[in-house]
Amino acid sequence: MMRFVNSYKEKMQKYNVEHKLKYYIDTMGCQMNENDSLKYAGILESMGFVKGNEDNSNIYLFNTCCVRENAENTLFGRLGMLKKRKMNNEEVYIAIVGCMTQQEHILEKIKKSYRFVDIVLGTSCMSIFPEKLYNAVVNHQRKLEYIDVSNTLEEEVPIKYEDKYKASVSIIYGCNNFCTYCIVPYVRGRERSRKPEDIIADIKRLAQDGYKEIMLLGQNVNSYGNDFSDELKGYNFPKLLQDVEKIDGIEIIRFMSPHPKDFKDDLIEVIKNSTKVARQIHLPLQSGNTEILKKMNRKYTKEQFIEVATKLKQIPNISLSTDIIVGFPNETEDEFLDTLDVVNKVKFDQIYMFIYSPREGTVAAKMEDKITYEEKVDRLERLKELYEKTLPSLNEKMLGNTYKVLVEGKSKTNDQLYTGRSSQNKVVIFEADDSFVGKVVDVKIDSEHLWYLKGTIVK
Ligand code: SAH
Ligand code: SF4
Ligand code: F3S
Repeated sequence: MMRFVNSYKEKMQKYNVEHKLKYYIDTMGCQMNENDSLKYAGILESMGFVKGNEDNSNIYLFNTCCVRENAENTLFGRLGMLKKRKMNNEEVYIAIVGCMTQQEHILEKIKKSYRFVDIVLGTSCMSIFPEKLYNAVVNHQRKLEYIDVSNTLEEEVPIKYEDKYKASVSIIYGCNNFCTYCIVPYVRGRERSRKPEDIIADIKRLAQDGYKEIMLLGQNVNSYGNDFSDELKGYNFPKLLQDVEKIDGIEIIRFMSPHPKDFKDDLIEVIKNSTKVARQIHLPLQSGNTEILKKMNRKYTKEQFIEVATKLKQIPNISLSTDIIVGFPNETEDEFLDTLDVVNKVKFDQIYMFIYSPREGTVAAKMEDKITYEEKVDRLERLKELYEKTLPSLNEKMLGNTYKVLVEGKSKTNDQLYTGRSSQNKVVIFEADDSFVGKVVDVKIDSEHLWYLKGTIVK
């Protein structure tokens, strides 16, 4: 573990008193990347940079994702637009960080065709960011180097939350699962769990600052603690949840993502007995077919997944969300129908659906694939159809019932109304006033509108 120390802070602040440089962060990818971006914002602000927008900034930080292929084009498109400003001799610096930079071919491409980029850093390299930034801005030094996946754990990085009532906290970095389609283990390194005392201290501080909802983050949160030895050995995710539960002021606890293979009864018990753990669990299915699951290296069968989902569904008012990949190499029609079958049986409230995207360096990328892209798109459409058909009946079950909702603010579409998310992670809209913002209230559901619910505050 490494404590974050920024020895360029004062020097950079001094520079910024005069130059007042603005920063803009463009985040792609998952919630872990979003959490990292809040840390980059924290570092930048501690060094005297102020937040700007997409058009008027000096420091552009791209926090990249490479889990599917489309992200690459997005990044290079945006870089192209910034090139013009650099060519006009405007004071513009570009930093590229995050998962994509851990792929050597990306660095090669930047070196060859995007030489105006100033800084390239991988994942878990925040400690060296201040130095690189200072050298780029003050000394006009540009050094593009490949930094191998860092398996360090950085603590005490300043973090600047945007939201006032809900906050995310990373609890474990990296992934050891090597699902055959997935690039994440290669770009994020091995599993590293933060010490419970560091996590608890962060959350206590957030509670003191008025935060009500906490999202615990990790690529596989229920691997949390597997890497502990000595006196922490045996401390695991269910225990952490129980300790977070004890923190006064925190009213809603969420987490993502758990892996179905590790969703054991002790965790289900902790959730069931908790008054704070949200009644929404993300349980990534990926495929409903045992043969495909095996080829994906997911380590559970169709039946085992349904068993975990069924146990979770016995918890009153619970809603389930999931991730599904269609068109894994050579997935047959019958195998795809198994996915539809699980969706039909489990009835997810939310499904994030993806067409399989081959990632260089993964095992699946080397598999032969006879399924056409059109076929994959067609499967995605059929999955979407089935999901949208089941959603109203799930929402209707909520009518007349009362749910805990964290009031987030005015509705964007109607400023007479306020909006928040229920413990089930459903968007709920209701009448309220500013005094309710940031509070957890009980809302009775009056009507359902597919993507949101309308209700009335009862308490
Ligand atoms: N650790 C999380 C997932 C992180 S990636 C988990 O195991 O659930 C987020 C989602 O992207 C995955 O759940 C998967 O559905 C999707 N995904 C990952 N690799 C992909 C690929 N090569 N093609 C398409 N979708 C992919
Ligand atoms: Fe990727 Fe699998 Fe790890 Fe999730 S558990 S990050 S899908 S390898
Ligand atoms: Fe993407 Fe990296 Fe997250 S590849 S999904 S940003 S861990």
